[in-house]
Amino acid sequence: MMNVSGALRAAVAAGLPRAEAQYLLQAVLGCKRSWLIAHDTDPLTAGQQQRFQDWLARRLDEVPLAYLVGDKEFFGLRLRVTPDTLVPRPDTEVLVHWALERLQGLTAPRVVDLGTGSGAIALALASQRPDAVIHMVDASPGALAVAQDNATRLGLAVQAHEGSWFEPLAGQAPFDLIVSNPPYVAGDDQHLQALRHEPRSALTPEGNGLADLGHLTQQAPHWLRPGGWLLLEHGWDQADAVASLLRERGFEEASLRHDLGGQPRASGGRWAG
Ligand SMILES: C[S@@+](CC[C@H](N)C(=O)[O-])C[C@H]1O[C@@H](n2cnc3c(N)ncnc32)[C@H](O)[C@@H]1O
Repeated sequence: MMNVSGALRAAVAAGLPRAEAQYLLQAVLGCKRSWLIAHDTDPLTAGQQQRFQDWLARRLDEVPLAYLVGDKEFFGLRLRVTPDTLVPRPDTEVLVHWALERLQGLTAPRVVDLGTGSGAIALALASQRPDAVIHMVDASPGALAVAQDNATRLGLAVQAHEGSWFEPLAGQAPFDLIVSNPPYVAGDDQHLQALRHEPRSALTPEGNGLADLGHLTQQAPHWLRPGGWLLLEHGWDQADAVASLLRERGFEEASLRHDLGGQPRASGGRWAG
């Protein structure tokens, strides 16, 4: 029978970084790191050992840790994630901070998060601005169900719509802020191979990666109140292209934010109306 330190040793020998091995074992045992360290000779039950070995094999096949343990922390919220949803990235918190800045001074602002996935952006905003009227849209029924479940578990009020971009918003009043982290990876980008366990439709619109960014920039003015803002996440090498899309569509104050690694990550503009 395997004990705690034996399980960790086996995982590291198989190629898993020690911190990941500890994280997975903590999730299997439902314990904190300090417990693992203090109980390194405790035996695993057959069920725990089986689950740990299954997760180890899947992790070595590059399945995201978040899919194995079933959740991911984003903007201080623990979100459930499944293979229907993109795993929220820390870089996307840049977009949330910018959105919160744009909402400062507005009372009960109307906001929509397009392509919400697990609900990460919409729920982060709802947690910080309980007065905001927040809508979230996704074309994937599986993703939207997870987003709704996250909203319910966290007790956050948001309105969910299934459909493509603005289509399910027909009849809605104009928004103060439209925020989106759409699929933007180019269809032939080599990184997609390493991301193969996440939904391809969440990562890439195929082609050069700009189709959804272009569609959102074109359509957003029909849904923004005068003075409202559109904020978009994009690839590190797409900032110039998105700035051109915004300016050509007539957005003012087109501006750029960088991610935690200092790379261009989000662009936005103000619709003067
Ligand atoms: C890059 S993921 C972002 C998920 C989440 N907002 C986040 O930041 O973690 C893009 C999301 O857009 C959704 N999506 C793709 N095409 C769409 C469309 N035509 N209309 C609405 N949502 C779409 C995908 O299902 C996916 O959830």
